[in-house]
Amino acid sequence: MKRLTDAVPPVTQGSDQARGGARDLSFSTAVVDWQRAHGRHALPWQQTRDPYRIWLSEIMLQQTQVSAVIPYYERFLAQFPDVKSLAQAPASEVMSLWSGLGYYTRARNLHRCAQVVSGEYEGSFPSEPESLAELPGIGRSTAAAIAAFAFGRRAAILDGNVKRVFCRVFGIDAWPGTRAVEDALWVRAEALLPEVEIEAYTQGLMDLGATLCTRSRPQCGRCPLAVRCVALATDRVTELPVRKPSKAIPQRHAVMLVVEDGGQVLLEQRPPSGIWGGLLSLPELPQASATSAAASAASASYDAMHARIAAFGESASVEPLPPFTHGFTHFKLHVVPYRVRLEKRRHMAGELDYQWVDTGTLANAPLPAPVKKLLMGLYNPAQQPQPQPQMALPLLAGED
Ligand code: ADE
Repeated sequence: MKRLTDAVPPVTQGSDQARGGARDLSFSTAVVDWQRAHGRHALPWQQTRDPYRIWLSEIMLQQTQVSAVIPYYERFLAQFPDVKSLAQAPASEVMSLWSGLGYYTRARNLHRCAQVVSGEYEGSFPSEPESLAELPGIGRSTAAAIAAFAFGRRAAILDGNVKRVFCRVFGIDAWPGTRAVEDALWVRAEALLPEVEIEAYTQGLMDLGATLCTRSRPQCGRCPLAVRCVALATDRVTELPVRKPSKAIPQRHAVMLVVEDGGQVLLEQRPPSGIWGGLLSLPELPQASATSAAASAASASYDAMHARIAAFGESASVEPLPPFTHGFTHFKLHVVPYRVRLEKRRHMAGELDYQWVDTGTLANAPLPAPVKKLLMGLYNPAQQPQPQPQMALPLLAGED
């Protein structure tokens, strides 16, 4: 399998010529030729070299689709035809024209950027990508796009769509959200830059990511990079780019006791807050006695279990039941249940949290779903609970 380190060519410091050894001209040629024949050419911000118009479009296109941007772009230009008119506008007017486009920090930065360009650059955007990247709201990739489209500068873009193209074409097996992988992708992006036709190349990468190399249902059959695409060759187009790793879900463990006597089962009222707050449930062993499924079965918890059972009466038998797992929003609960038959019930006067409940009435008891399922399986197998909302008890935030 191709590793990230294989996927990033060594890049020598120094002149473009020195970097030429790492450059893959057939990559950029394929992108440029495809852009000319099949790319987009009639978007409202194309066919101009006006840095103001290009900058405005690039800011609006950050995390936003072309179709959503076009009407906003046209309204903005009609209202603010140049950077000075935008700089002088009241913030409220800028914000209200932006309203509906989302990510409003962009609008505040847009206004500030217009004021900086008006005040410090006499109304002319700088042409160097490094200077553009110092302006409010302009990151490295946006700076490169503006520098390429407005000034023909040879600078590399790396937005989300381009990352997807690179991850697939080069078979990059790591999530592109880490600094290390992103740095490696930048190295790759710089090394692939052609010497000429930077505008068509830059637009071509954008167009490929937006129209063919899409997140879902990419059209590999029409892609000019298909012949060199590692993801396609290894049948991993749907797997790449690697998705953000999900955080490990915490695991909790509980030992529950099904204590029965004379057609009744012992239930305990749960505290009002916390999981299953206010419901009736099965008595559990203290958490420390159930820190892992293995421990719960081991003799360490045996004493704790028998101490707990003794509080309810004299036991005739203790039998393990099949363990089960219940998923909550933020954790998984692994339950090891035991069936305890009492031969002599202890009188639990004054212990208001406990109730002996007829096994025939369990279907209507306010029990957590997995506990009801367990008990119905034991006592009323013909009458398994149907999925239905718990009776009139409020569900606590974050609970299932
Ligand atoms: N996304 C970002 N910049 C773009 C551009 N110039 N054209 C189309 N989509 C883009």
